[in-house]
Amino acid sequence: MAKTLYERLGGIEGITRLVDDAVDAHFANPLIKTRFENTPDVERAKRMSVEFFCAGSGGPQAYTGKDLVTAHKGMNISEQEFIAAVDDILSAMDKNNLGDDVKKDVLGVLYSLKGQIIRI
Ligand code: HEM
Repeated sequence: MAKTLYERLGGIEGITRLVDDAVDAHFANPLIKTRFENTPDVERAKRMSVEFFCAGSGGPQAYTGKDLVTAHKGMNISEQEFIAAVDDILSAMDKNNLGDDVKKDVLGVLYSLKGQIIRI
């Protein structure tokens, strides 16, 4: 049977590395770093993001965080910021030697979530 996206991302270990590297990249990204510098509990946001990507890619974990609209409401995130965050995630995938096929699949999922993140 075809592997799930969760398996192709390296399961919870791979996804945890990916979230760590992506959030490090957000803190180094001048377009979005202040968003994260002003987050009161980054470790919690990271834990929730690991759960989100595990649950959303076919892993056995449950997502216990806020829905995406509630999590991003009031931030008024722009299209440019959204693309900056997606670029950071794709760079983190390169760093973790994930191939083009899995990158394309993740890009498709992230893009489909855009309406729950920007300008809300
Ligand atoms: C498709 C893209 C995105 C996904 C899947 C995503 C997912 C998440 C998740 C799961 C959380 C944790 C929710 C919780 O705490 O219960 C979160 C929090 C957060 N996100 Fe996003 N996010 C995305 C894009 C963005 C963008 C573009 C920005 C800003 C440039 C952003 C900024 C934040 C911040 C600052 C928090 C922490 C909020 C807090 O704890 O106060 N996110 N995101």
